[in-house]
Amino acid sequence: MAKLRILYETGEPEKVIEFDPAQAPFQHDGQPGSILDVMLGHGVDLEHACGGNCACTTCHVIVKSSMAHLSENSETEDDLLDKAPGLTPTSRLGCQAVIEDSEDGEVVVLVPRYTINQQV
Ligand code: FES
Repeated sequence: MAKLRILYETGEPEKVIEFDPAQAPFQHDGQPGSILDVMLGHGVDLEHACGGNCACTTCHVIVKSSMAHLSENSETEDDLLDKAPGLTPTSRLGCQAVIEDSEDGEVVVLVPRYTINQQV
């Protein structure tokens, strides 16, 4: 089993999801097994204006721990992330960052207060 802990910059209570990465996809948006896929498939919302197709930045999350358990960034993801408000060195697009395995720990992500949709 893998574990995803979700923190919120808004102060909303954190959430923890335990899941089996081999069962992905959990729903139809984003890369199978991505942070977005795991969250939506377990009833936890995350903005995803483009439907998880790596074409907006509304699914921006900041990885706080276990970055090594995630898939590599693609060039398209990096280009898009450059436009995300509040970009950090550990920012990822939730729809593209696949949790590959976290048997020995948990992936912790922070959902930023603002997405590009909320800014305009
Ligand atoms: S949902 Fe649009 S880039 Fe992830």
